[in-house]
Amino acid sequence: RFRASLDAMESLRIGPARTQDRATTLEVAPAEGFANEPDTDPSLPANRDWAARVLARSGDSRLGVGTIELASVRDAATLEQRITEAHRAGAAWGAVPGAQRARQLHDAGDVLAAFRGRLIEVMASETGKTIAEADVEVSEAVDFAHYYAERAAELDSVEDATFVPPALTVVTPPWNFPVAIPAGSVLAALAAGSGVIIKPAPQARRSGAVMVEALWEAGIPRDLLTLVDIEEGDLGRQLIAHPRVDRVILTGAWETAAMFRSWRPDLPLLAETSGKNAIVITPSADLDLAVADLVKSAFGHAGQKCSAASLAILVGSVGSSERFERQLVDAVRTLRVGYPQEATTQVGPIIEPAHGKLKRALTELGEGESWLVEPRQLDESGRLWSPGVRTGVRPGSEFHLTEYFGPVLGIVKAATLEEAVRIQNGVAYGLTAGIHSLDPDEVSRWLDTVEAGNLYVNRGITGAIVQRQPFGGWKRSTVGTGAKAGGPNYVATLGRWEPVEAAP
Ligand code: SER
Repeated sequence: RFRASLDAMESLRIGPARTQDRATTLEVAPAEGFANEPDTDPSLPANRDWAARVLARSGDSRLGVGTIELASVRDAATLEQRITEAHRAGAAWGAVPGAQRARQLHDAGDVLAAFRGRLIEVMASETGKTIAEADVEVSEAVDFAHYYAERAAELDSVEDATFVPPALTVVTPPWNFPVAIPAGSVLAALAAGSGVIIKPAPQARRSGAVMVEALWEAGIPRDLLTLVDIEEGDLGRQLIAHPRVDRVILTGAWETAAMFRSWRPDLPLLAETSGKNAIVITPSADLDLAVADLVKSAFGHAGQKCSAASLAILVGSVGSSERFERQLVDAVRTLRVGYPQEATTQVGPIIEPAHGKLKRALTELGEGESWLVEPRQLDESGRLWSPGVRTGVRPGSEFHLTEYFGPVLGIVKAATLEEAVRIQNGVAYGLTAGIHSLDPDEVSRWLDTVEAGNLYVNRGITGAIVQRQPFGGWKRSTVGTGAKAGGPNYVATLGRWEPVEAAP
């Protein structure tokens, strides 16, 4: 078994099998000197003491409140003024050499790292994110700063083309990664030489504000990086459809991207949208590892990652394996569910009281389905649910096809790997996908046929790392250029490239 595992690892292509980048590909050397920011090591007593203090403060944290109040925009004239100012600042910033912008971004990375405690405090307070999940998010934000700094420095060194920065980029991030995703989008735009207006998600406005405070403290001017807090509606439309906006970076629902496009058909949009992701488990898999990775991918951040595993597709004998079923049930039942202020919490609250399709997924079964682990509402808030696992999910059913963003996993059975891939590909989206198999032939067949942007072999399917796993989707998981966040082409696709006229 061990030998097979080693052989399998050696023969596999690790990392995303295909790139979805459709824009001009820059030939860039691997980022020299870039190293990922380490997460906080909880085995050190000093770090645990620090974490306890951060979480104690998060109970009644007010971080970001003042900034978000100042950022509130209530009328069209004020918004117009902010757009004009950010556009003007962006045009000047775009004329600054890439190497100088890079220095500013490295400073931003250093300040984000210094803000680690404050960022975790506000995320735990506002969104219920656990400390472990919030901690990796800060590391990712720091990574984006240093990685995109290097990409900024490269833009000026392309010989036969000139990069024309966007003057103004609008960033509309989601609430589920309230620091890393807004930071990544803002930093990429700044690296590209653009002014930025960021409108945080309503559920995570204070977290976005504290992230922006860090960048301001690093020396990024307040007009170059403008925070606006507006109600969705007319002002949102005014901002997105504004002719001065050269680029919109959206992370959110596919329907939101479609709405943006309907407001302005020629919108230069770079959008990372929805997902419905599955892990295939074949009889050759290391089932212990598969269970651990499945549980982490399905229930990390209470299942609210766009990358989360919402389905497990069990091939052949795995589907009738009592051992697999028992291990999965035990692992799910022993997850510690609670609020993030308790340092041992593994599954935190969902962002708002369960309602609509998520409430249905937590409380109702489809035809032929039964609970392996029934979810339970744990308190009056409607936000705290113990994780659930349903089995008997049928291809084509509501659960197979719908993105839920919550702590519920569905099990589908397939006779063969080919059938499993058909089920995996049978959704509208294509964000992440996983396989657990120690058979190199199976893995290779899977890699050749699965339709998703980020493919993971024998590991979990969440937690893409900047530079190592550029993150982005296929199909309805992406709209626009398709460049992957944390990858070599992302910054370069935000602007335009003009060929340099050959000297006569
Ligand atoms: N980048 C995150 C992940 O990989 C999702 O946005 O989990």
